[in-house]
Amino acid sequence: MSIFYEVRREYELSDLTEADLTQSPFELFESWLKQAMEIKQISDPTAMIVATVDEEGQAFQRTVLMKAVDDESLTFYTNQNSRKGQHLQQNPKVSAIFPWLAAERQVLFSGVVEKLSEHENDAYFASRPFTSQIAALASHQSEVIKDRQTLEKHYHKLLEKYQGKDVPRPLNWGGYKIKAHEVEFWQGGEFRLHDRFRYFKKQNNWQVERLQP
Ligand SMILES: Cc1cc2nc3c(=O)[nH]c(=O)nc-3n(C[C@H](O)[C@H](O)[C@H](O)COP(=O)(O)O)c2cc1C
Repeated sequence: MSIFYEVRREYELSDLTEADLTQSPFELFESWLKQAMEIKQISDPTAMIVATVDEEGQAFQRTVLMKAVDDESLTFYTNQNSRKGQHLQQNPKVSAIFPWLAAERQVLFSGVVEKLSEHENDAYFASRPFTSQIAALASHQSEVIKDRQTLEKHYHKLLEKYQGKDVPRPLNWGGYKIKAHEVEFWQGGEFRLHDRFRYFKKQNNWQVERLQP
């Protein structure tokens, strides 16, 4: 057994007070995101860990890249036949977290996903680099494959086939909007007295309350 009792640090970069709170959590999120994008040690500031559950209630998580944010939702793209896609088909409830550890911050969203329209999927797919489009076409995400060679062979075959042509978007490849009904901000604080604020929707209006650390 290895013990990590001593692995800890102090949190002292900043605080989050009632005065910092905005009307909508998305306003505060976007301002924290902007700051995260300026911190060199945060390598993928738009990466979020999305949790889904299978039909037995077993939770699964994975990192995805957030590609858009508006005043009520976060968007990510994936293969909708993947394991996460299958979970979401059955149960659209998700949890997503941005672990901005170098900023001593995390933001946690709870909500429900909605699929993007075909038009929106096409528009984003068309914006991706050619090789990413080919990779999306080549991979049946989350399915078992015999070996890497098989995957690469398939990829190179498609690369050749579509050289100089438009790559068709796989119909099962698309985006989800996470429509949030709860957003929690965590800012590490001195003496382990961290600041936590939870926004939640009441009669379509955002309310906010402070939580104990
Ligand atoms: C930094 C990072 C970014 C990723 N971005 C995406 C993404 O935007 N979309 C996606 O489908 N998978 C992305 N992945 C891969 C997923 O974490 C995951 O392996 C994949 O989506 C399959 O998940 P599933 O089997 O639970 O459906 C990313 C992984 C990492 C580490």
